Amino acid sequence: MDSFLIHGGYRLKGTIEISGSKNSALPIMAATLMAEGKSTLKGVPRLLDIDSMTRLLGELGCNVFRHEPTNPGQLIGPALNGSLDIEVQEERQSEARYEIVKTMRASICVLGPLLAKRGKAVVSLPGGCAIGDRPVDLHVRGLRKLGAEFRVENGNIVGEVRGRLKGCRMYLGGALGPTVLGTINVMCAAALADGETVLVGAACEPEVSDCAEMLNKMGARIIGHGTPEIRIEGVEKLVGTEHRIIPDRIECGTFMIAAAITNGDLELKHCNLDHLIAVTDRLEEVGVKIQRENGTAIVSAARRIIPVEMTTQPYPGFPTDLQAQLMALLCLSDGISVITERIFPDRFLHVGELNRMGAGIRKEGPTAIIQGVRELQGAHVMASDLRASAALVLAGLVAKGTTRIDRVYHIDRGYEKIEQKLSAVGAHIERLKEDKSTMVAMSAAVA
Ligand code: EPZ
Repeated sequence: MDSFLIHGGYRLKGTIEISGSKNSALPIMAATLMAEGKSTLKGVPRLLDIDSMTRLLGELGCNVFRHEPTNPGQLIGPALNGSLDIEVQEERQSEARYEIVKTMRASICVLGPLLAKRGKAVVSLPGGCAIGDRPVDLHVRGLRKLGAEFRVENGNIVGEVRGRLKGCRMYLGGALGPTVLGTINVMCAAALADGETVLVGAACEPEVSDCAEMLNKMGARIIGHGTPEIRIEGVEKLVGTEHRIIPDRIECGTFMIAAAITNGDLELKHCNLDHLIAVTDRLEEVGVKIQRENGTAIVSAARRIIPVEMTTQPYPGFPTDLQAQLMALLCLSDGISVITERIFPDRFLHVGELNRMGAGIRKEGPTAIIQGVRELQGAHVMASDLRASAALVLAGLVAKGTTRIDRVYHIDRGYEKIEQKLSAVGAHIERLKEDKSTMVAMSAAVA
């Protein structure tokens, strides 16, 4: 397990290219299981989660090929990213094994496509994870309404369809609002169902729309995506297509906060600020200056970080995937800020680690009260989940002294070459490979 060593206190200045969206690419890769012929996806980031999905598709009979750019020194950003070709070779296997599902919950995305195309799916039930209890009941409920039958067997969800799925009108919302991957799973299955499906209470996230756009290029007939009511007229078959993945709004938001926290100046290329409207709203309230020039965001920090209140919400509200990063910034604000988490009420593992770096955060249920401090101090901290880890990197960039973050494989799941992107704009961040990081830990123990 690699670690990061960050020497804090350097202003970031320069240009960063935003990668394609992980959360868009994963379900879109799964959706190619339904296509006949080759699908080509462009702008797929190089990440551990993408490797896991590639492995899963391989086990499910797909041939996945990544085109590598000619100059390996220029791997960053969707314009230069290699593309993926995916083609189904054989359809005998329908099981997503626990070994893969336990490393990546997005494996659940194959459930709808497998049921619709192969009539059977066995997907290991994902357990809880670092950000809390994450049930998949809404996925199963929606697919049941389309006619699939389910049972739980030895820790697996086993789904079967007799004949063809049948479209219907259904409500897909849950107690904590709409479900992103649940909407995508049911939408994918409905694309090959008999008749019309109407999803009421659907998630409106850009990743849902991106998947719908790709399915339409494959021959699906979907309208209303991006709104809470999606209409899908089922078709008999889908064919491979070419599609470019949307820019990663969470990576972009993370680097916007990196500019803000280091009092820096960053130009973020290949991003879509329309997908970040609630984030720009909060950051401008904090005092950050954000200018838009076509697909580029120019972000510069204010001298004073103004405290704000923020509640995470489904899109277009402030995304839960940027909650931890905003909290890192507000640790240095000039007063008291309040953050409430409404999507994953337990997603606060970063609080304890930020406090170890000198922050003043108190948690009360799904709310964190952040008393701003003058400075953070470097410390030895532990990455717990993807976005909590990103928050620790941000804190490390500005902390006094050196921060060591262990278990950075969490970051590698979702941020493409983060240390290279940050180093290129002036951060002092270094990756300690597993053996070297063990040696540093041992010599620290001896000292
Ligand atoms: C997606 O997860 C993202 N993952 C998450 O990003 C993101 O945090 C989340 O959406 C919310 O935006 C991917 O796209 C791969 P949900 P998903 O179903 O779809 C409850 C990251 O850091 N719920 O929209 O699994 C659920 O517990 C990751 O990149 C049910 O009750 O999230 C939560 O409270 C982490 N039953 C709420 O709905 C269900 O069947 C929204 O979750 C499904 C969800």
